[in-house]
Amino acid sequence: MEKYYIGTLNNISQVGLSKLTENYVLTDDVDQANGIIVRSFKMHDMDFSENLLAIGRAGAGVNNIPLDKCADQGIVVFNAPGANSNAVKELVLAALIMGARNMYEGIAWANTLEGDDVSSDVEKGKKNYAGTEILGKTIGIIGLGAIGAKIANSCEALGMKVCGYEAFRPHPCLTADVKMFDDVAEMVKECDFVSIHVPSLPATKGMINKDLIANMKDGAIILNFARPDLVVVDDIKAALETGKIRKYMTDLANEETIGVPGIVATPHLGASTAEAEENCAVMAAEELMDYLGCGNIRCSVNYPAVSLDCIEGTKRICALYKDAEDKAEEFKAFYGDCLVDMASGKRGDYGYVICAVKSGCPNVFEAPYVIRTRVLG
Ligand code: MLT
Repeated sequence: MEKYYIGTLNNISQVGLSKLTENYVLTDDVDQANGIIVRSFKMHDMDFSENLLAIGRAGAGVNNIPLDKCADQGIVVFNAPGANSNAVKELVLAALIMGARNMYEGIAWANTLEGDDVSSDVEKGKKNYAGTEILGKTIGIIGLGAIGAKIANSCEALGMKVCGYEAFRPHPCLTADVKMFDDVAEMVKECDFVSIHVPSLPATKGMINKDLIANMKDGAIILNFARPDLVVVDDIKAALETGKIRKYMTDLANEETIGVPGIVATPHLGASTAEAEENCAVMAAEELMDYLGCGNIRCSVNYPAVSLDCIEGTKRICALYKDAEDKAEEFKAFYGDCLVDMASGKRGDYGYVICAVKSGCPNVFEAPYVIRTRVLG
């Protein structure tokens, strides 16, 4: 098997890198790399070398990677959905309770106390931080992917009622009895807590704004452990000032959130656990090896999922293409009797075909819409 070079753009867990087999060689030279494993490094301004065939994002969000530019250059981008979902879920649960019990504010106050009688000051002042319980309260979860679904299950187990909104299909791990809504604005009317778990896309940007907040219950707590631009922070601040919302718990501390009463912001710790970093790195490494070595695409965010078992005595011709039409039949017709098996798929305009052909089959199909072809085996 050919050797492939793997580069990294952030600190990637050694547990993940150790999964790379002997055909995959780590390199410090990104221009030499056939595959790159990345966490949050912003890749939008990078020029990609011809050698680069795939990028594995060791995490879920892919807003640091120019997906269309990569697709147009024949670079398949993978992410690691679900690999850090338990870590994020646990932090959201902590924030849910911290928010309801005013823990952050209480701790900050307790740390200001001085003198010999702190215990008595504590007893006198604690009434200012009295909170509420989550038992019997309602949480509305926007986005029931791997993270949202796990939060739903845990909230139900903690005695909460769970409402949900999901534009596509809820993740299969969802077991909670969720009251589903087609309209987020309707859902939030019933919720004491609203937690958002969707990717940052043009359609989701600013999804939590003054109009949605106006529909919320007075005193609701909003949680954002996904991406900063899903929420209009100025609208949050205005709603905190009037008391319309009680608190904004977020994992996305930035210049807009610091020092604002009612905003409790952690420094993007959601997926920063040893376990999550390992899980993500392992998944990214395995996805890259499966694609570079075998041509299989699983969990890509810019090309369709297409895979084919290796068939002895065949070589695999793997072609990435771009066209509004599905071109699989054209590949099939070209390889004709040489073809032993084939798999194909489309994702928007981008298509992928794996043709297992007899070893002696001489030619590679060419067409203006083919972006890149690799011959394996
Ligand atoms: C993710 O997208 O997986 C999380 O936000 C954590 C991260 O950005 O690495």
